[in-house]
Amino acid sequence: MRWLSSSWRACGSSMVVVSFAACMGQTGGSAPATTTMASSQGQTEQVLRGRAIVVSNACGDCHGQGGNPAGPGWLAGWKSPQQDFPIGPFMTRPRNLTPDSATGITRYSDRQIFNALRFGLRPSATPDVEITSSVPGQGNHPAKPNYLAPTMPWVAWRHMSDADLRAIIAYLRHGLKPVSNKVEDSQAPPDFWASENTAEKIGPYPVAPHPTANEVAGQGDQAKVLRGRALVITKDCAGCHGGGPNPLAKGYLAGMTDSTGEFKIGPFKTRPRNLTPDNTTGIGRFSERQIFNALRFGLRPGETPDVEITSTTPGQGNFPAVPKYMAVPMPWPTWRHMPDEELWAIAAYLKNGVKPVSNKVADSEGPPDFWASEYTVAKIGTHPPAPFPTTNERAR
Ligand code: HEC
Ligand code: HEC
Repeated sequence: MRWLSSSWRACGSSMVVVSFAACMGQTGGSAPATTTMASSQGQTEQVLRGRAIVVSNACGDCHGQGGNPAGPGWLAGWKSPQQDFPIGPFMTRPRNLTPDSATGITRYSDRQIFNALRFGLRPSATPDVEITSSVPGQGNHPAKPNYLAPTMPWVAWRHMSDADLRAIIAYLRHGLKPVSNKVEDSQAPPDFWASENTAEKIGPYPVAPHPTANEVAGQGDQAKVLRGRALVITKDCAGCHGGGPNPLAKGYLAGMTDSTGEFKIGPFKTRPRNLTPDNTTGIGRFSERQIFNALRFGLRPGETPDVEITSTTPGQGNFPAVPKYMAVPMPWPTWRHMPDEELWAIAAYLKNGVKPVSNKVADSEGPPDFWASEYTVAKIGTHPPAPFPTTNERAR
C-alpha cells in the first residue's frame, strides 16, 4: 500500500515547519516570455486549474503543507529524517516541487515531469524524450526504468488526463515561488522498484472499463457514477482503502484486511474503512449526504446526523457542537477542496457503482477530542483555500 508509513504524521498536517524566508529571494529558471494577451490568459487559466488539482489531490500531504497553499514550506519537500517514509528497509523522501534551479523542478523539462507523473520515471535519471508505451524497452520507455519510490502515488496520478497533468506542471513551474531546499535522495532497491511496478501489481494503463468484477453498472445516473469512478481512481482512494487505483484488484475499496493496512499515528492505530456499499460493514448504511459531509467536513458518517451542513464552525449551521472527525491520515482536509459536484459524484459511485463486499474493519483508535486539535485552521488552512497568489505563489 503506497500511502503506508509509520511516519505519515510527520508528513501530514503536522509536518515540521521551517521557514525558508531567507532563501526565498533566490530566483528559479527563466520563464518563457508570453507574447500575446490571449496566450498569457490561457496560461493563467492553466495555472489555476493546476493549482485546484494540486490542492485537492493531497500532493502537499507528502510534499509539504497538505491542502494549504498559504502554509510555510508549501510543496518545498522533505526537511528532516523525521519526514522519511520507510518502505521496508528503504527511506524515501518527498522532493522539492518548487521551481528552484538547484534543488527543485527547474532542472527538468515539462516533458520529464510529465513522464514522472504518467510513467513514474525519475526525472533526473530518465532521458528527455516522448514516451509512448508503459512497457519497458518499448516506445522510448527505458529498458531499465529508474522508477520513483512507491510512496509517490504516480500509479494513480497516471490516470489523469494529459491536460490535467500539463496543468499541474504549469502550476508547479509558473505558479510557485522557488524555494531552495535540498532533499536527500531516496534509497531504492537495485531494480529501482521495477518489481513493484509490474502490470500484475499496478493494473493496466488505461484503467479497465467499468464495470469490472468488483463493480456494478446500471444503478443511478451513469454519467455521474463514471465521473465519481474517475475521481476515486485519480485521487488514489483505494491506495489506503484496498486494492490500489485498479478496479480489477482483489479487495478493491473493501477496506483493510490485516494489520499491514493499518496506520500507527502516535499511540493510536487507525484503519481505512470498507467503502463498498455493504449494508452492515460498508457505506451501504450511509446516505450520499453523509458521505458528502465526510469528504467536505471530515465528519465520521457513522456518528454524524444525516443533515445538510452549512458552516464549518462547531455548533453553527448544523455542524455538530462536538464533531466526531475521521482519524488521521484520511486526507479530507485536501479532498474538501473538490467542488460540490465532484464530491457528490464520488458518493454516487461508492453507493451505486461498486459491488458490496462484507469486510468488517475494526474501529480506529483516537484521542478523546476525535482529532479536533489536528484539524484547526492553523494546521489545515482555510476552506475555501487562500486565494491565488499566496506568499508561496506568484502570478505572472
Ligand atoms: C504519499 C506521499 C506522496 C504524495 C501524496 C505525492 N507524492 Fe510526489 N513524491 C513522493 C516521494 C516519496 C517522492 C520521491 C520518490 C523518490 O525519490 O524515488 C516523490 C516524487 C515526486 C516527483 C519527482 C520529483 C523529483 O525531483 O524527482 C514529482 C514530480 C512529484 N512527486 C509530484 C507529485 C504531485 C504532482 C503530487 C500530487 C498530484 C504528488 N507528488 C503526491 C511522495 C508523494
Ligand atoms: C492516506 C490514506 C487514505 C486515503 C488516500 C483515503 N482515505 Fe478515506 N479513510 C482513511 C482512514 C484511515 C479512514 C478511517 C477514519 C476513522 O476511522 O476515523 C478513512 C475513512 C473514510 C470514510 C469514512 C467511512 C466510514 O465508514 O466511516 C470515507 C467515506 C472515506 N474514507 C472516503 C475516502 C475517499 C472517497 C477517498 C479518496 C477521495 C479516501 N477516503 C482516501 C484513509 C484514507
